[in-house]
Amino acid sequence: MAAKKEKEIDEEELKVDDVSLDEEEDTVVVEVPEDEPTLDDLPGVGPATAEKLREAGFDDMLAIAVMSPSALADAAELGEAVSAKIIAGAKKLANIGGFLSGNALLEKRSEVLKLTSSSVAVDELFGGGFETQAICEVYGEFGSGKTQIGHQLAVNATMPISEGGLGGEVFYIDTEDTFRPERISQMARGNGLDPELVLERIHVARAYNSAHQMLLVDEIKRMAKNIEVKMVIVDSLTSHFRAEFLGRGKLAERQQKLNKHLKELKQLADVSNALVLVTNQVHSKPDAMWGDPTKPIGGHIVGHASTFRLYLRKSKGGRRIGRLVDSPNLPEGEAVFMVTGEGIRD
Ligand SMILES: Nc1ncnc2c1ncn2[C@@H]1O[C@H](COP(=O)(O)OP(=O)(O)O)[C@@H](O)[C@H]1O
Ligand SMILES: [Mg+2]
Repeated sequence: MAAKKEKEIDEEELKVDDVSLDEEEDTVVVEVPEDEPTLDDLPGVGPATAEKLREAGFDDMLAIAVMSPSALADAAELGEAVSAKIIAGAKKLANIGGFLSGNALLEKRSEVLKLTSSSVAVDELFGGGFETQAICEVYGEFGSGKTQIGHQLAVNATMPISEGGLGGEVFYIDTEDTFRPERISQMARGNGLDPELVLERIHVARAYNSAHQMLLVDEIKRMAKNIEVKMVIVDSLTSHFRAEFLGRGKLAERQQKLNKHLKELKQLADVSNALVLVTNQVHSKPDAMWGDPTKPIGGHIVGHASTFRLYLRKSKGGRRIGRLVDSPNLPEGEAVFMVTGEGIRD
């Protein structure tokens, strides 16, 4: 009976334009529209007005929707009546977001998986492992072990859920050319896994600049419709942005782009029940403008977007200290671990 019902739905849906039958796979593919409405979709907005709005920094529906007509008129040099009309349109098109009941949220949280780091101490610090549906930022100075953690979690994510893995595919965006398949093989062997099978499930792309880095996330989003994406690593999140947007004058633009990048990564984490791990360097030069030399790049934009932040320091005897900073539901604390030939260990 259930089968019959399914068939009826299939046939009915097949009449809809945006559903097509993929002959080869023998499955129904539903095209989800992924393009968000743009300024040109607003009533009374032609190319010239759209340009004025963009120049004034309004490139997002929500940003317009929350304005008052007089404020928008001032900011974008438009008439007040036109502004009112634009705002009314933006309110309809903007994705304001909805409310979920506590129970619905609890149900979504119950799907959260926890990934092991291969160090008991680090797992305990994270309340049992690195959570999916979240962005985790690992920051620290050069050589503190950020890339090693990225490699270890990539290996572990390919393991079955019953063994502390995420049982899925890993996407690694490498911006500094520090991804090493040999290191993955070593760590796989260290966990008793077949290196070839592990490498098969880790998909690596080198990002050549910040725009490319952002495009690669779009690409992963597209693939996530057909592939079980369980982990995305961006190593490093900020190096291209930092090199390309230099100086005070470019700071706003850099932060805006980083913000958009992180929003897309968070969406991916939520939709795919995946873990997003980003690495970030700390300011190396203690100068007046930047202040504390142990502050991560990207300031509050990266800080707010990350659910978990792990600060790494080198310690005596090759030991590393990881400090959990600002977690929503875990106490601050520290864990000591080692980077060994076989990988991260206590
Ligand atoms: N095969 C290995 N065996 C033991 N330690 C290693 C190995 N590979 C790397 N390391 C350690 O990891 C450090 C580099 O850490 P890395 O994650 O690349 O730093 P970051 O990404 O924070 O700049 C090296 O200095 C070394 O101590
Ligand atoms: Mg690194």
